[in-house]
Amino acid sequence: MKVGIITVSDKGFAGKREDVSGAVIKDIIKSMLDVDSFEYAIVPDEAKKISAKLIEFADKKHCSLILTTGGTGFSPRDVTPEATLKVIERMVPGIPETIRQKTLQKTPFAMLSRAVAGIRGKSFIINFPGSPKAVKECLEVIEPVLGHALELLDKGSLECASLPRH
Ligand code: MTE
Repeated sequence: MKVGIITVSDKGFAGKREDVSGAVIKDIIKSMLDVDSFEYAIVPDEAKKISAKLIEFADKKHCSLILTTGGTGFSPRDVTPEATLKVIERMVPGIPETIRQKTLQKTPFAMLSRAVAGIRGKSFIINFPGSPKAVKECLEVIEPVLGHALELLDKGSLECASLPRH
């Protein structure tokens, strides 16, 4: 499986800030999934560039999972959700809904994340906030369903009934 990580940050793109969150995602994902390779990019907070990178990672690089970090807040240049909505074909609202609900127990600022998630072809795209702490908290929330979601996308159909019930 190939996983794409896109850090959305003007400062990161300009080399003025080290991309800690991208590295955190890589480490955690390696411990959660059987990853063959990673694609990695830093793009500035510009909707067209974010959308173009998402399309490249989905259609050309065939990433099964694409995780973005940053650009989900309120500043005028935070446009990652809008750039993501432009390229996804089917929304997966349960992912950001659950992330916000669960991480609210850690910080009220979770309410300020405008993150979205969705499917483009066989790629599952999920937005995360920019901070390394937030990335870790959000990944913990989706861990129980991530493997199954990717299997469903890959195989087309799978017996959900065979899953353990909680
Ligand atoms: N979600 C979690 N789990 N933990 C956090 O610390 N920070 C919030 C929010 N979501 C946060 C979080 C803050 S302060 C902001 S401004 C928004 O995500 C958007 O962050 P971004 O602009 O870096 O994407």
